[in-house]
Amino acid sequence: MDRDAAKQAAGEEAATFVEDGMTLGLGTGSTAAYALQAIGRRISEENLDVRGVPTSFGAERLAHRHGVPLTSLDDTATLDLGIDGADEVDPDLDLIKGGGAAHSREKVVATQAERFIVIVDPTKTVDRLGNSFALPIEVMPVAVTPITATLEDLGATADLREGDQKDGPVVTDQGLWVLDAHFPDGIADPHAVDEALSEHPGVLDHGLFLDLATDVLLGRPDGTVDHTTA
Ligand code: 5RP
Repeated sequence: MDRDAAKQAAGEEAATFVEDGMTLGLGTGSTAAYALQAIGRRISEENLDVRGVPTSFGAERLAHRHGVPLTSLDDTATLDLGIDGADEVDPDLDLIKGGGAAHSREKVVATQAERFIVIVDPTKTVDRLGNSFALPIEVMPVAVTPITATLEDLGATADLREGDQKDGPVVTDQGLWVLDAHFPDGIADPHAVDEALSEHPGVLDHGLFLDLATDVLLGRPDGTVDHTTA
């Protein structure tokens, strides 16, 4: 499957939802990058006046590159539209995010958006969250062992995410670490896991995005896009 073509179709379709005067949440990852590029193109071709809040250093740099003006939640507490990718989407439009370790900031931004459009390729759809992707959890280094024990109580095993071209753990934009939790049969009760982790000292946030997506745009390799609303 040509996943890139599917991601591009979803990203470019998402950019058509942007209107003059909007404030935007700018997502992170390869699919969100297609949306950012298309938004930048619309800004220069249609002279749109839009501002975006980036969800990561990566999104910030891409926005600069594509000419998308930036703002922050200090200036615009409510955003008209958030656009972001996901690692898994279930039939209720609940998500796992955090493949790029940006989920904590992504969740802050998505929560402030009146409409939150999720853009994915067909490999991201699952019957049950956790079936194909581990659940990322952003943690304080000092809390890795207690959080790992809690995850084991929840039926998961956890791996500390290691850098690819850097020795040692991945360090997030917030200066923290990431545990990837593998649930052997998927996550049977995402709300229970959400509650257990959200209350845990040392957890900044986890990659379960429950009841947040208003729309999912599923791009296909032939360039068509399926639109589902919550
Ligand atoms: C980053 C994310 C990304 O949105 C998610 O990993 C999807 O990335 P891609 O579009 O590259 O597959 O949550 O933290």
